Amino acid sequence: MSQGYCRGWRVRIPESSGREQATGYQTGGHRLQKWQQEMRESPLNRDTGVTNGGKTTLAKKLQKHLPNCSVISQDDFFKPQSEIETDTNGFLQYDVLEALNMEKMMSAISRWMESPRHSPVSTDSGSTEEIPILIIEGFLLFNYKPLDALWNRSYFLTIPYEECKRRRSTRVYEPPDVPGYFDGHVWPMYLKHRQEIENITWEIIYLDGTKSEEDLFSQVYEELKQELAKHKCLQVTT
Ligand SMILES: Nc1ncnc2c1ncn2[C@@H]1O[C@H](COP(=O)(O)OP(=O)(O)OP(=O)(O)O)[C@@H](O)[C@H]1O
Ligand SMILES: [Mg+2]
Repeated sequence: MSQGYCRGWRVRIPESSGREQATGYQTGGHRLQKWQQEMRESPLNRDTGVTNGGKTTLAKKLQKHLPNCSVISQDDFFKPQSEIETDTNGFLQYDVLEALNMEKMMSAISRWMESPRHSPVSTDSGSTEEIPILIIEGFLLFNYKPLDALWNRSYFLTIPYEECKRRRSTRVYEPPDVPGYFDGHVWPMYLKHRQEIENITWEIIYLDGTKSEEDLFSQVYEELKQELAKHKCLQVTT
């Protein structure tokens, strides 16, 4: 069967949890330009892919082991249920960009960019000498244009349909998945979004989400350590 999805990550702050958020900030071109400059100094990574691919698990584990690392989870920016559309089958349309308060998420990224060393969600093992890292993880990061220019590294976790459905059935979402929801909304939306990113030109690193949590962590951790070493060289030579 076809590969499943997870979603990409970078780094930043979650301010609340679950499918319940609101309010927004302005995210103009000027601010984006500022981010594009700053991203050369502070690595941003994003981790995306299929639902239940292991995005949050991986991001949290990386945060635990990387100094000065912050995580922003797209899942923390779902709009309240009252604002979520319903399709003709009665399925709440959660797996679409419109279900997310992306402006609020962008404002969280912006706040991190303005003060990365003082982020409330940084690991406490860092020192002022360590380069701040932001990981943003979520299921619809590559389909949101304003984020395109921001990343240093982009990861996409995949798992097969059967494994995705199995993992999903062991989770309890709020609101809970109704019968038929996975095949009637979640998986078709994943396939649609996966199709949309096929023309992306920047590098996406695909990760096999059926590998063990430890293997996935080791691979990405090593790559990020190398990336950090490069940034440290740049900081010394410029
Ligand atoms: N490498 C792995 N191997 C097996 N199971 C895993 C692995 N990584 C995560 N899991 C399990 O899969 C489930 C989903 O993990 P996680 O919440 O990290 O996924 P997610 O991609 O963030 O999902 P969501 O779409 O709900 O945000 C959890 O039960 C977790 O324990
Ligand atoms: Mg998650």
